[in-house]
Amino acid sequence: MTSPATSPDDRTGAAPAPTGPLSKIDYSERIPNNVNLADDRRLQRALEGWQPKFIDWWKTLGPALPTKDVYLRTAVAVGRDGWAHFEHVPMEEYRWGIFLAEQNPDRTVSFGKHKGEPAWQEVPGEHRADLMRLIVVQGDTEPASVEQQRVLGNTAPSIYDLRNLFQVNVEEGRHLWAMVYLLHAYFGREGREEAEQLLKRNSGDIDAPRILGAFNEETTDWLQFFMFTYFTDRDGKYQLGTLKESAFDPLARTCEFMLKEEAHHMFVGTTGVQRVVERTAELMKEHGTDDIWEHGGIPLSVVQKYLNFQFSVSMDLFGSEQSTNAGNYYSSGLKGRWQETRRKDDHVLLEDTREMNYVEDGEIRQRTVPTLSALNLDLRDEYVADCANGVRRWNQALEDAGLEERLILPHEGFNRRVGVYAQHHVSPEGEVLDDAAWQAVVDGYLPSAEDRAAVAALMVPEYELGKFAGWIAPPQAGINDQPVEFDYVHLAEEGVA
Ligand SMILES: [Fe+2]
Ligand SMILES: [Fe+2]
Repeated sequence: MTSPATSPDDRTGAAPAPTGPLSKIDYSERIPNNVNLADDRRLQRALEGWQPKFIDWWKTLGPALPTKDVYLRTAVAVGRDGWAHFEHVPMEEYRWGIFLAEQNPDRTVSFGKHKGEPAWQEVPGEHRADLMRLIVVQGDTEPASVEQQRVLGNTAPSIYDLRNLFQVNVEEGRHLWAMVYLLHAYFGREGREEAEQLLKRNSGDIDAPRILGAFNEETTDWLQFFMFTYFTDRDGKYQLGTLKESAFDPLARTCEFMLKEEAHHMFVGTTGVQRVVERTAELMKEHGTDDIWEHGGIPLSVVQKYLNFQFSVSMDLFGSEQSTNAGNYYSSGLKGRWQETRRKDDHVLLEDTREMNYVEDGEIRQRTVPTLSALNLDLRDEYVADCANGVRRWNQALEDAGLEERLILPHEGFNRRVGVYAQHHVSPEGEVLDDAAWQAVVDGYLPSAEDRAAVAALMVPEYELGKFAGWIAPPQAGINDQPVEFDYVHLAEEGVA
């Protein structure tokens, strides 16, 4: 999943190739599912009790732009024969449901001290609190992003982009369902209470904010939305990748299916930023200047600042480089490494060491640490390598346009609030700066209020089919083999019967 040529980023919103045998989803139920919910009346009733609260939340804090219907992808199966179909549906009637990847009855734990033992179908008492916490933290990010993106529909650069925003939003809503199912099914009364809280905390709320910092930042404009889906959804992809390895099988299967949906979110980010860069390059060439504000484009320097910001806040989501919790989660089998089964080591890591950076005397140095203590860093390194693929791709667009300018992925220490760099200032190029030097240059690194206001001023909606706002290039193809000018969204005021 990490090489650019084969990455899901390259897929254009069609269904990713499914794995495993066909497993039909039951749509005759109030809550579509492939977990035989009808056989467990108690659980079904509990989830049916939560459902209207979710719909209330969606209507209050979900997409603000009134629409009649949207051309959306809905999961129909989790198996080999394809898993999704597309149709126009009113968004509040989207069939949010519970879909787990197919069970492999022979699955064993692939790492930690339980390596080789059968995967767990129930939660072991000793790991109950930790597993619940992992699920709650993951679950909290899903509705948070919907809240952050609530008003973006009002300024969509096209109907095509509007549809992609809503697709991401409904699927993040479904990811909340995925976590709430686990809480209800496996964690009893406490789990049900946590499920309630997932709708009560809200992004940016002073009294009850979302758990993680990046999910309380406002998504102010579409450039930030594309950076968010590129960098922050990608953090989600990597977190899900570690939970997909979990010894707790229902969690592993849940995350495996979520990752299929997540691929489209990556696609929206990668191609969204790419289209901005393409348009910027076009305007730079046409007018022979970097300063393309007055020509209705976003200067490359501002694209770079947005990139710097979103990358650095997303890096903080991985936590401290060294973490006893992460090591314990690994040893206990709760959370594996990215592509655990493809790693060529003993999958126990008691003896292994690795290098890690830290800052001392104004410079970045390295020290050797136990691998088990630095698993957050292990995951973050995988993430950074993946992020670099997008930057290469965007730079290819600049090169293809015949421009010398390039975007860079900032140094891992840039603008960090968490971990070994938190008390230091590091430039995007990796130079350690003192306070005064940092203050003198920071406006060149991060979007200023003026930058954000100038980007916001370009965000005028373009709702005419097949037309695109002037700051972004059209995509190369439509969604699910439909033309780019397809009627992906019917707005409420169109008055379509
Ligand atoms: Fe998600
Ligand atoms: Fe996502």
